[in-house]
Amino acid sequence: MKAAAIRSFEGPDAVEITELDTPPLGPDTLLVEMAAASINPVDWQILHGNLRGAFYHHLPVVPGWDVAGTVVAAGPAVRGVVPGNRVAAYARKDHIQDGTFAEIVSVPERSWAHIPDEVPFDVAACVPLAGMTADMTLDAAQVRAGDTVLVHAAAGGVGSFAVQLARLRGATVLGTASPHNHDYLAGLGATPVAYGEGLVENVRAVAPDGVDAIVDLVGGEALDATDHLLREGGRVASVIDPTVRERFGGVYVFVHADRERLARLLRLVADGSVRVEIAERFPLDEARRALQLSEGRHVRGKLVLLR
Ligand SMILES: NC(=O)c1ccc[n+]([C@@H]2O[C@H](COP(=O)([O-])OP(=O)(O)OC[C@H]3O[C@@H](n4cnc5c(N)ncnc54)[C@H](OP(=O)(O)O)[C@@H]3O)[C@@H](O)[C@H]2O)c1
Repeated sequence: MKAAAIRSFEGPDAVEITELDTPPLGPDTLLVEMAAASINPVDWQILHGNLRGAFYHHLPVVPGWDVAGTVVAAGPAVRGVVPGNRVAAYARKDHIQDGTFAEIVSVPERSWAHIPDEVPFDVAACVPLAGMTADMTLDAAQVRAGDTVLVHAAAGGVGSFAVQLARLRGATVLGTASPHNHDYLAGLGATPVAYGEGLVENVRAVAPDGVDAIVDLVGGEALDATDHLLREGGRVASVIDPTVRERFGGVYVFVHADRERLARLLRLVADGSVRVEIAERFPLDEARRALQLSEGRHVRGKLVLLR
């Protein structure tokens, strides 16, 4: 089968299109014919070798943790799905090797959900990692109706979900982005705020008493500003910096497979409650270019590879 892969940890530039063996069918896995696979920053982090302290890696590495496609085979212990079904998955394995940027993807039982008929493959492929991260981080920050929430990096893949899901919980949302994304954020239901120099003043200008919760998708200076922005008793969750726990009594989130959550998010997309912004679609053959673009850190919404 065709796949995008690396044979050395030299970043997206090292990605080549190659022929690899089709993954084996485990007793509790699905084989899925990839129709779409979305890009996440973790993919190019893996290509640089930045996760080698956290997971075993086996070269050649096919990057990609998100997939949407059609089931071609189901292991004998898998229930509730048959070949021909459309599924989406957060297909991270315990080791880094056979990712989703390939024609056939192996999907662990813990990670798939049926795609509602209304949702096309390219949109479904954007939901697993980014959507679940956003929802888990809102849970970690205990975001609820009546809260004022600040989302750092609100225009990106995770941020776009976080803004909309926080609005659905009944929160008022402030989101940081560059000025060219402010109309986009307003369209998602957030009050846009410029980041960088003046961040604290910019947030205070629209939330003079500070915010009840912070969703940190940036770290660094954004997280450093927490004490100046959070109200007494406020909650902060970060997907970037585990020191959020010691420094601010917050929660660090690392996304994990959660089939019920994924199914719920796909239903929200199907009924129009959540919209998915796709900045650009690329054929699988152009995976390198898509990963390079993601590494530039200014994608609005998501990038998708199509088979
Ligand atoms: N721990 C986990 O489980 C987990 C899960 C998912 C993601 N993550 C991490 O979370 C981060 C966000 O992920 P993502 O998928 O949303 O990334 P992404 O889609 O690549 O984010 C791109 C967005 O980031 C914005 N941005 C860049 N620098 C910023 C800054 N200093 N302040 C505010 N916004 C900034 C850009 O907005 P402008 O163009 O408007 O500047 C752009 O819209 C990544 O670092 C990723 O690795 C962690």
